[in-house]
Formats: sequence, structure tokens, C-alpha cells
Amino acid sequence: MTTIENGSVTRELAGKRALVTGGSSGIGAAVVRQLLDAGAEVVTTARTATSTVPEGATFVEADVRTRAGTQALAEAAQEVLGGVDVLVHNAGGARPHEGSAAIPDEEWQDALDLNYLASVRLDSLLVPGMRERRSGMIVHVSSAAVLTPVAPFLHYTAAKAALENYSRGLALEQAPFGIRVNTVTPGRVATPGGERTREQWARLDLAPGQNDAPTVPLGRDGQPEDIAHAVLFLVSGRASWLTGSNLVVDGGEFPRG
Ligand SMILES: NC(=O)c1ccc[n+]([C@@H]2O[C@H](COP(=O)([O-])OP(=O)(O)OC[C@H]3O[C@@H](n4cnc5c(N)ncnc54)[C@H](OP(=O)(O)O)[C@@H]3O)[C@@H](O)[C@H]2O)c1
Repeated sequence: MTTIENGSVTRELAGKRALVTGGSSGIGAAVVRQLLDAGAEVVTTARTATSTVPEGATFVEADVRTRAGTQALAEAAQEVLGGVDVLVHNAGGARPHEGSAAIPDEEWQDALDLNYLASVRLDSLLVPGMRERRSGMIVHVSSAAVLTPVAPFLHYTAAKAALENYSRGLALEQAPFGIRVNTVTPGRVATPGGERTREQWARLDLAPGQNDAPTVPLGRDGQPEDIAHAVLFLVSGRASWLTGSNLVVDGGEFPRG
């Protein structure tokens, strides 16, 4: 049941078991906090345990770039939670380079593994349980960079574009089994990873137009909570007729419809 207290919806995910990748920082940590506030039991992961993992979540150390990492994570989550009802694929990122040809081969592979294949692998391990229970909510976190794929980030944007396409296809495949699959596409968000990447980008020697900061019509960068609100909506009962959608949360940077 949904309860409104002080203008915010609370405890609507009581009894739900959630797994969030990349919950030690930025957007992932905000998603974990909001899931906990909504009453869900939460397991989260990163490569390193840090003090920024929200209190109340169970932390599992894992690298989701490899099949072995996703397998170990899925097993640990099943063991802790007994099953996963809500799956948020948030871990992602990539280092910018001076042009597409300057991106080393291993970083193309890394970008694909982290931003795309990690979701494919983890979904393939956890969707069967959701199908048995005839219920599941999956969110893939993409990036508004897909909408203007600039050269320094082509490995990243190509991987996120693949993720968006896969997410729509998975939504259609799993809809008959009561599983909803959606994408959230953040614009420029103030997070440790986002700031680090933008600093690396600013230091590159680039052609005009390749490192211009975007204009955000709403006049500020996003906060991790802005993205977490969208994720929480999509996994809640309020979005029960939403699947295969892509919610762009970008302060109006890329108006579309
Ligand atoms: N911030 C933005 O402006 C922005 C814009 C558009 C899209 N996004 C997307 O939003 C998501 C979150 O971004 P963020 O800015 O919040 O990033 P962040 O601050 O860098 O946090 C990333 C989280 O993912 C974890 N992680 C990274 N690589 C991992 C791996 N191989 N295995 C497991 N965990 C891993 C990190 O922990 P460890 O490093 O310890 O593993 C950390 O917990 C990403 O998918 C990103 O592409 C961000």
C-alpha cells in the first residue's frame, strides 16, 4: 500500500528484495537510500567496500565486468535475500580519450562489459526467478551522452546505446511473465564519478565542440536523488503499466517525446 507522509511516498516497497549495482557512490547510493526508505531489503555491490555504502544495505564486493563477477554477485544476492524482485543496473562509466581511435582496445571491451554486458549477464541469472514468481522490476541506467555521442566517449555511448536497445527488447520478451523492464537516462549529475570524468575530459586537447559543457534549461546540474526518484517510480506499483520505456532525467537538456 502507498502512504503519503509530508508529501513523500513511503514504505511502498515493504517486502520487496532489491539488488543495486554500484551502490557505494553517486546515483547508486541514492537509489539504495530511497529503496531502503521505501521499505525494501537491499543488497548492493561495488569493487571496494567504502564508508559511503548506505547504512542498512548488505554490501557484497564484486566486479560486474566479468561473467564470474556477475555469477558470484547473483549467488550472494539470492543467498542474502532469498530472491530478487527489484534489479537496478547502475554501475557504469568510462574514461574519455582524445578521439575514437585513441581509445585502447581493452577500454572498448571494458566499456562494453561494464555498461552493457554486465546487465545482460546479471539479468540472465536473475530473470528466471522473476519468471517463476511472475513478478519483477528491472531498471537499466543509461546516459544522455547517447543522444550526442562525442568522440572522447564513443566506447561509453556505444555501450549505453546497446543497453537501451537491449532493455526495450527484454521488456517485450518478459512482459507476458509480469516482469517490467525500463531505462532511466540521466543527464549531467553531480556525483564523484561524474565530476572525475568531467575533469579528465576538460584536460584533453580536443577540437572545438568536443568538450563543451551542456546548457541545462532548469539551471542546475542534477543531484543523485533526482535520478533515484525516477528509478523508485519505475520499480513502484505506480508504474505498473510502464515497460520498455526510457525516462530521460536531464533538466531539459534533450527535450524529446
Ligand atoms: N554522473 C553523471 O553525470 C551521469 C550521467 C549519465 C549517466 N550516468 C550513469 O549513472 C551511473 C552511475 O554513475 P555515477 O556518476 O553515480 O558513478 P560513480 O559516482 O562513479 O559511482 C559508480 C558506482 O559503480 C561502482 N562500480 C564501478 N565499476 C564497477 C564494477 N566494475 N563492478 C562493480 N561496481 C562498479 C563504483 O564503485 P567501485 O569503483 O568501488 O567499483 C560506484 O559504487 C553509471 O551507469 C553512469 O554511466 C552518470
